[in-house]
Amino acid sequence: MKTQAAASIFFLATSLPTALGWGTLGHQTVAYIATNFGCATKTKFQGILGDTSTNYLASVATWADTYRYSDEGTWTAGFHFIDANDNPPSSCGVDYSRDCGDAGCVVSAIKNYTSRVQSTSLSDADVTTAAKFIIHFIGDIHQPLHDEGLDLGGNTIDVTFDGESTNLHHIQWDTNMPEKYVGGYALSDAKTFAATLTTKIKTGSYKSEKASWLDGIDLSDPVTSATSWANDSNAYVCSTVMPDGISAVEKTDLSGAYYTKAIPVVELQIAKAGYRLAAWLDLIATGETGL
Ligand SMILES: *[C@@H]1O[C@H](CO)[C@@H](O)[C@H](O)[C@H]1NC(C)=O
Ligand SMILES: *[C@@H]1O[C@H](CO)[C@@H](O)[C@H](O)[C@H]1NC(C)=O
Ligand SMILES: [Zn+2]
Repeated sequence: MKTQAAASIFFLATSLPTALGWGTLGHQTVAYIATNFGCATKTKFQGILGDTSTNYLASVATWADTYRYSDEGTWTAGFHFIDANDNPPSSCGVDYSRDCGDAGCVVSAIKNYTSRVQSTSLSDADVTTAAKFIIHFIGDIHQPLHDEGLDLGGNTIDVTFDGESTNLHHIQWDTNMPEKYVGGYALSDAKTFAATLTTKIKTGSYKSEKASWLDGIDLSDPVTSATSWANDSNAYVCSTVMPDGISAVEKTDLSGAYYTKAIPVVELQIAKAGYRLAAWLDLIATGETGL
């Protein structure tokens, strides 16, 4: 216990300022949405993850970020994003062969761990790890700045939010905006936010578009499937993240009009990520999406 507490204090002290992907709230919300939709997923992934509680996806949703910032996991850092070499705001787009790179990216990682989670020859521990990576990476790929190379995905663009100094990428898009909107970042906040978004998908404003979110989804072609999610997400870099270029956001407080315009995209991308995660896990479990 002592060692664990010391390790987590060390982690908080050294990593929090720039570390967290969608942030805890975003990743856990994505996981709960997938839990709400995935029927076939439940038995299969509760088994793989060794957790029969209703938090079976949410409780492992940020493991990949913790691992990435540990000494043994540094090598996986590049799996959390794809650096599109596009030219926002005038032109956006992800091109897998141009942008993924030899060391891998979030698209190749989704491919690799989708193959590994279905393996019958790997150890149970390796299959469990593969599941945890997929649950996290399908969240990451839906954050527009995880699909952008410019200024390290916005990490070097200094902004403020409610007066607090931060940067455009992690804190602003991943964390500050969803947390301001939801009003907290506890597991219970994620569950409530997921319930709201689940209702929007089932019967609300996303009902008519949700089928299109699964266009082209193909478990046998993870690169094409995941590249289309990345490309879809990256388009918001041009339309919403920096529609007037870097100079319009740099050193600016983004908690007002910018936030108001951005928050529907944050919600939409979290909803899509959860729905697509449910579909992907269902495909792994049964070969069909069940949605
Ligand atoms: C696939 O995952 C395994 C286990 O994490 C890793 O050792 C390997 O390098 C990965 N391969 C690719 C191409 O990413
Ligand atoms: C990416 O999206 C653009 C439109 O925004 C489209 O023209 C292009 O074909 C898409 N590319 C991929 C790989 O999906
Ligand atoms: Zn991540």
